[in-house]
Amino acid sequence: MAIDVEPVRAHTPGADHVLHFNNAGAALPPQPVLDAQVHHLRREAEIGGYEAEAEAEEALRNTYDAIARMLGCDAGEVALLENATRAWDMAFYGLPFGAGDRILTSRAAYASNHIACLQVAERTGAAVEVVPHTATGEVDVDALRSMMDDDVALIALTHVPTNGGLVNPATEVGDVANEADVPFLLDACQSAGQMPLPVDEIGCTMLSATGRKYLRGPRGTGFLYVRQDWIERIEPPLLDLHAATWTGPDTYEIHPDARRFETWEGHVAGFVGLGTAVEYALDQGLGAIRDRVQPLAATLRTALADVPGVTVRDQGRTRCGITTFTTEQMDAAALQSTLREHDINVSVSPPASTRLDAEARNLPALVRASVHYYNTEAEIERFVDVLSDLLDA
Ligand SMILES: Cc1ncc(COP(=O)(O)O)c(C=O)c1O
Repeated sequence: MAIDVEPVRAHTPGADHVLHFNNAGAALPPQPVLDAQVHHLRREAEIGGYEAEAEAEEALRNTYDAIARMLGCDAGEVALLENATRAWDMAFYGLPFGAGDRILTSRAAYASNHIACLQVAERTGAAVEVVPHTATGEVDVDALRSMMDDDVALIALTHVPTNGGLVNPATEVGDVANEADVPFLLDACQSAGQMPLPVDEIGCTMLSATGRKYLRGPRGTGFLYVRQDWIERIEPPLLDLHAATWTGPDTYEIHPDARRFETWEGHVAGFVGLGTAVEYALDQGLGAIRDRVQPLAATLRTALADVPGVTVRDQGRTRCGITTFTTEQMDAAALQSTLREHDINVSVSPPASTRLDAEARNLPALVRASVHYYNTEAEIERFVDVLSDLLDA
């Protein structure tokens, strides 16, 4: 069913205050997400943090269940973490890399992930190799297939890069990984909440995501999915008394399910809010969200392309809600702060966040205008009008 925009805007307190095209940074949360967190914080103040957590047991269980429903997995395959980077790290640094191993990644790689790859390569003697890309910017699946051999220890793919609308063909990559029986770590940080993510169909072994972006959840929340048959093969790089049990003076046992990737202390109000956000997205329908977000972003790109001095920078046969562009008249940071004076939110993607792609395409800092389903065609018109006036001044 198509999304009914008026009610979701009425549920979005920020929609009355800003024209928010920074959903790939942190989306505006809906009222129920705000309420769930405020309620929990209030209970912490009223009865104590541990007691409020005990009271929220069902809500917390619901967070795992809602994420599992979204991914089509088991709740025991889900770990809650403080952000997508740590979620990705807990899987990546837990894999047993050694000299001669090959880590295959893509041009869209996010800086934090690639830095981790470089560090592990330095420590272990593993090699990091970037899979060639197609003319439209996606990872080239045929090239990937031809690169597979017994030394490939991981395929790491960024589903949607931080710096553009490109959607990488995750399911085709999953096919290659599964044919070769190689673990496949999908960074779904920018795709979670704006399209369906059925892990079985995608064929990923591990998936990381964040709460605050397209899921419209709280900041400081993220999650990791690890497929059941891989959980015990990944030794968490860090352990505490929640991830493992101290069974004797010299012994410990690591938790058998995905809790092994978590820590004892965490942002409980955030996790409660995250569950509410995932449920809210599931109620809208992730297919319906994709079917609204993608045409809306396409409308924005078409309108931007007609503004003198603007170059749209997105690639991809399939493009999502993220739109990036540069202008001849102003650099990205100046434009971002000037738009802010008009209550318009965008963000800036600097080259260092996606260095492989930025260098290959000779990209300066990009303006990133990312739309969500609660944005409207009227907002796009206003955005383009304000931008045109600023650039014409
Ligand atoms: C593709 C991608 N991966 C990972 C991250 C990191 O997410 P977090 O800030 O939640 O750690 C980002 C953040 O922008 C991202 O764009």
